[in-house]
Amino acid sequence: MNWVSPVRRSAVTAANAAPVWMEGKEILTIEGLAKGDKLDPLQEAFIQNDGPQCGFCTSGQIMSGKALLLKNSQPSEAQARRALSGNLCRCGNYNREVAAVLAAAKAR
Ligand code: FES
Repeated sequence: MNWVSPVRRSAVTAANAAPVWMEGKEILTIEGLAKGDKLDPLQEAFIQNDGPQCGFCTSGQIMSGKALLLKNSQPSEAQARRALSGNLCRCGNYNREVAAVLAAAKAR
């Protein structure tokens, strides 16, 4: 799973950042994206575009997409593909995940 640093607007791979290193820093996780019962527009877009398949990579894909959209509200397809490229999806569902990021950008 990835975290997003709202200050840096970049995804941080959790495997490369021990929680203790984040003490005192603001982080955003998949669990913090929704506001109560209201999903983040990117989460909605993943659902609408059948982004989640088996779900192993989904939280990382969404957080990588969120980091991209925080930096660039209207990314190109190539930029979306590059942003998600660090997450391995065994289902090969990349096209739908990229479509979800682009749909969320359009919905803004
Ligand atoms: S949805 Fe199956 S590994 Fe990504």
